[in-house]
Amino acid sequence: MFAERAAKAIENVTALDRPANAVAEAVGKVLKPGLVKDTLSGTQLGHPAHPALIAVPIGSWLSASWLDLVGGHGSRDAARKLVALGVLSAVPTALTGASDWSDTSGAERRVGFVHALANSTGLGLYVASWRARRQGKHAKGVGLALAGAGVVGFSGWLGGHLAYALGVGVDTTAFTGAPAEWTDVAADVDLLDGQPVGTTVGVVPIVLLRQGSRIYALNDRCTHRGGPLHEGQVVGDCIECPWHGSRFRLDSGEIERGPATQSQQAFQVRVDAGRVLVRRNDEQRSLRTSPVASVTP
Ligand code: FES
Repeated sequence: MFAERAAKAIENVTALDRPANAVAEAVGKVLKPGLVKDTLSGTQLGHPAHPALIAVPIGSWLSASWLDLVGGHGSRDAARKLVALGVLSAVPTALTGASDWSDTSGAERRVGFVHALANSTGLGLYVASWRARRQGKHAKGVGLALAGAGVVGFSGWLGGHLAYALGVGVDTTAFTGAPAEWTDVAADVDLLDGQPVGTTVGVVPIVLLRQGSRIYALNDRCTHRGGPLHEGQVVGDCIECPWHGSRFRLDSGEIERGPATQSQQAFQVRVDAGRVLVRRNDEQRSLRTSPVASVTP
């Protein structure tokens, strides 16, 4: 399909890496792990905030164009106010997007960079549309808004590619199964107090940690962007992802700090005859059961 080929072509434009990495680095310096980053990421919501906020500017702008086309002279003032609402709401929407994007790399970062450039262009066109309308140049304002709709539509398509094809914002363990039966994963003596150990159960990576008399087991792949938790550090009763600093409770996998928006899979653990055994802690979701036998242990 043409659309897929076009998106993949953008994924491979390595010339974007230099400017994209420079901007992402600057964003990362401003947005450190903590409350602001969590809020922009959607940690408290349980899913990314950016896709939810997008509805406000796009809805406002498209409604303005609808009024332009069918509303007649009496709706000009309302259309101008809708364009203004879209412009104002685009600011927090862009901030959430920039936060998410700064945690990506490679193809996702390149596509996200083009997405951001297109959004900025669209925003500029809508600002110009609002100004033209304020100056009484209605036809010019309508034209600029339609041009903005085209650019934002292209950008929205790229946003869809980021989420649905490249999985930005998706729990990286969403399709990862786990054994329902007790499964041997390590020797008890190999677990030293306070030192995370990465291993696997079937094809699922898990991190084991002994803390005092307890052993904890979580999926080793961070739900945020897939960072290896066994390379992270233990902070109190949490383990911190080495990539972007999300913290997960060792006993339940729940998030103590984002930018992750989904908890880690936690496993039940017991020791039998010197061996550490784990099994899943929760009901299997349908997409965590794969018809390909090797995927689900
Ligand atoms: S991969 Fe981003 S916090 Fe773990």
